[in-house]
Amino acid sequence: MTDPQLLIRLYQPADEVQVIDLWQRCGLTVPWNDPQQDIQRKVVFQPSLFWVGVIDGRIVGTLMAGYEGRRGWINYLGVAPEYRRIGIGRQWMATAEAALQELGCPKINLQVRSSNTSVIAFYRSLGFTMDEVVSLGKHL
Ligand SMILES: CC(C)(COP(=O)(O)OP(=O)(O)OC[C@H]1O[C@@H](n2cnc3c(N)ncnc32)[C@H](O)[C@@H]1OP(=O)(O)O)[C@@H](O)C(=O)NCCC(=O)NCCS
Repeated sequence: MTDPQLLIRLYQPADEVQVIDLWQRCGLTVPWNDPQQDIQRKVVFQPSLFWVGVIDGRIVGTLMAGYEGRRGWINYLGVAPEYRRIGIGRQWMATAEAALQELGCPKINLQVRSSNTSVIAFYRSLGFTMDEVVSLGKHL
């Protein structure tokens, strides 16, 4: 059951400090990514796909999505540890899926570290299945 006081709204510049703090508490920051820079890039590219969740004036969740004309992508999905397992993550994903569908997106792809078994369980519970692909990357 989702907390009725959860407000999902678009990211605003004043949210930056709280968002980065949340990402750190969710284990979403890694040494090779600068969270401030990630936010700045998103603010200029598809900012309508970057949401925060607020309860009692505090940011308790974030979700960044993207669409490049073929696939939708999910990044920086995080719910504050003290608000987990009450349906917030599920509600986030419903928001993102609806927004991507509205843009004409036919499929969502996402990457999860294979060791992150609880998050894989979360996505499976939402109907995601494992694609038979090898995920490759290159830093530019
Ligand atoms: C993944 C995450 C966003 C889930 O958020 P949440 O609000 O707790 O998820 P929900 O309450 O909506 O869970 C929906 C369903 O997913 C499954 N699920 C969620 N967390 C789970 C876990 N730790 N283990 C197993 N299943 C889980 C359950 O089936 C759950 O339904 P239930 O509670 O009725 O059993 C949250 O755990 C998180 O922020 N994790 C750390 C950040 C992270 O790794 N993000 C993903 C990067 S790819």
